[in-house]
Amino acid sequence: MQKFIRFNSENNTFTLSNNHITYIMEIVEHTYLVHRYWGKQITDYHFSNRPLLKKKTFAATPNNEKPEISPEFLPFEFPFPHQGDYRNSAVQILQENTNEITRFCYNSHEIQNDAIELTDLPHARNTDEQAQTLIIYLYDQISEIELALYYTIFENSSVIVRSSRVKNIGAQSIKVTKLLSASIDTRYDQQLSTTFYGTHQKEFQLNRSQIQHGLFKIGSSRGASSPQYPPFVALSKDASEFQGEVHAMTLIYSGNHEIALERDQYNHLRIQIGLNSETFSWRLEAGEMFYSPQALLSYSDQGFNGSSQSFHQFFTDHLIHPTWKSKDRPILINSWEMTYYDVNEQLIRKLIDTASDLGFETVVLDDGWFGQRNSSKTSLGDWHVDTEKFPTGIKPLVDYAKQKNIGFGIWFEPEMISPNTELIQKHPDWIMKSKNYEPLLGRSQYILDLTNLEVQEFIIRTLSKAITEFGVNYIKWDMNRHMTDPFSQIQTFDSSEYSHRYILGFYRILNELTNIYPNVLFENCSSGGGRLDPGMLFYFPQTWISDNTDGLDRQQIQYGASYLFPISSITGHVSDVPNHQTNRVVSFKTRAALASSTNMGYEMAIIQMTKKEKESIRNHLKEYKQERAIIMKGTFYRLHSPFDGNTCAWMFSNEEQAIIYVFRNVYQVYDLSLLIKIPALDSQSLYQEQATKQVYSGSELTNCGLALENAKGDFIVQKIHLKKLEQ
Ligand code: DGJ
Repeated sequence: MQKFIRFNSENNTFTLSNNHITYIMEIVEHTYLVHRYWGKQITDYHFSNRPLLKKKTFAATPNNEKPEISPEFLPFEFPFPHQGDYRNSAVQILQENTNEITRFCYNSHEIQNDAIELTDLPHARNTDEQAQTLIIYLYDQISEIELALYYTIFENSSVIVRSSRVKNIGAQSIKVTKLLSASIDTRYDQQLSTTFYGTHQKEFQLNRSQIQHGLFKIGSSRGASSPQYPPFVALSKDASEFQGEVHAMTLIYSGNHEIALERDQYNHLRIQIGLNSETFSWRLEAGEMFYSPQALLSYSDQGFNGSSQSFHQFFTDHLIHPTWKSKDRPILINSWEMTYYDVNEQLIRKLIDTASDLGFETVVLDDGWFGQRNSSKTSLGDWHVDTEKFPTGIKPLVDYAKQKNIGFGIWFEPEMISPNTELIQKHPDWIMKSKNYEPLLGRSQYILDLTNLEVQEFIIRTLSKAITEFGVNYIKWDMNRHMTDPFSQIQTFDSSEYSHRYILGFYRILNELTNIYPNVLFENCSSGGGRLDPGMLFYFPQTWISDNTDGLDRQQIQYGASYLFPISSITGHVSDVPNHQTNRVVSFKTRAALASSTNMGYEMAIIQMTKKEKESIRNHLKEYKQERAIIMKGTFYRLHSPFDGNTCAWMFSNEEQAIIYVFRNVYQVYDLSLLIKIPALDSQSLYQEQATKQVYSGSELTNCGLALENAKGDFIVQKIHLKKLEQ
């Protein structure tokens, strides 16, 4: 076993290092665990960057002989309040409901030869890749509370996994009111922050801005990671997509999170991620422990593309379920935008016929197949087949699809319940609801109380029944509203524990189902990307990232999502025009190219198409199948940002070939020609462009670029497909 973690007892430093990255901490005064370095691999460390601190008025001095060692300016690994560090803390604990003071000191550490697999939270999985975990125990002997900090490093990855755990060693109960997963103190060096914001139909909008003095805080209190501010933050100074240092963080968690950036009065920068402390608390009785979710910290010296590529690799290797990480995903045809709720047996049979004829691999029966579901107002929870629409049930359709050699999938929204259902009459106490208020509706529905074990079992039973009785091999798991009235009617815990307990219940259900049915493909959806985060990837190999399939808006949405998520995990469908969300008309070629840049599918009335239209679809599917391996498993590069102007470009490449899509939106008469520089080619090789058969050298394509025609018309796309020629 190689050693990636070392403790040097002479100078009291911990070093985590592999061929890409190094992370260093020091124990100062045998007490404080402080941060020294996180970045590119270094061979040896002699405190070259250790700040030369000075005594300051107002700074607390735990040791009066050494006033320069004050918590006011120590770069803490895990800061706590009321002890001289006046910046944003990472942990807060209330003892016996009175005293909020803790004083954590370094106590001991251990090193394990694997990654930590948490039992009730999604986590970085152990694989064949070697890993080591450092656990540092801090202890407060007065309150008798232990704080354990976890750091995992893998042999080949530039990602470090961090988390924390509180243990109540004493006899009294305590209440954890804040527990983040990671906190880093560094110097402010003109870095910019990158985060995302978004809404339904406009997810992953890029926000790069200067960091001002003060505290910048984003997160979610919606009960889901949400598109409002997904759990991602990056720091960069002068990085581009290809060059420069990027430090980025994300969280393996699907509920309420927070991200804090604080630039203080000494120009120190603190960057933090973890559970949202405004909607969280956790009571610990004597001997009990609480684990935070895991944060992922990625370092890149090759710009934002480098950062994304290491997340993509890490998610594929350590988050996505092993059954699915290298398996081809089926090309789906989904019924939603074809006829919405108006589905029936005849229609779906026709859809199966056309789909198998055109080359689709799975038909998905979306919303509308159960209860009396003819609108969003009814039937969630009454998961029995609507026999008026499907007189012989779903199974004959699944069998029919099998005969035609294609798969069959079905839609569920398992966490929800509609008013006026049999389920609500039978179990009014299953709704998420406080004691005194009528709960608010969202999309005409209530949320089930997933902290209730009976509800968890009901969902597991319902889904299992559909999988076994219908024989489906795909489930679309939707969730179309966010949380209000977070309370259980059978509640025995503090209400500020609710949102985390909900997510634990949700994860328990997913753990059960994905373990029993590892070959069923579960697709995540929350009106698109309303709950898309690394935690969801642990259970759902793919996510419908947006209800917006418009040929313009999707460029930004897909571009933004690629900062974190591997292409195999984000799905995109070719839909009809005028687009149902924006009314915009964009050519088939452009819409197909956008969907082809993801885990691809369709969502339109293919049964009513003309022969010519069907031929275009058939050809598109053929082409996608030929290119699927490079799109799903190649390296993805963002080339031109749709947030910066009129064009958007990206590339998929492997050793032998590269596929580049260039989207040019509004035609401008003064743009004579377009030029695109193509990176990451072999400079010693020649490449042939497949459409024009022209041959170019790798070095000229990278350095001179390739000139493209600026064709007339709006929303056009050009595809460049390069194949390396044998030497
Ligand atoms: C929202 C999803 O994003 C859509 O794709 C569709 O499944 C609808 N819900 C169904 O109600």
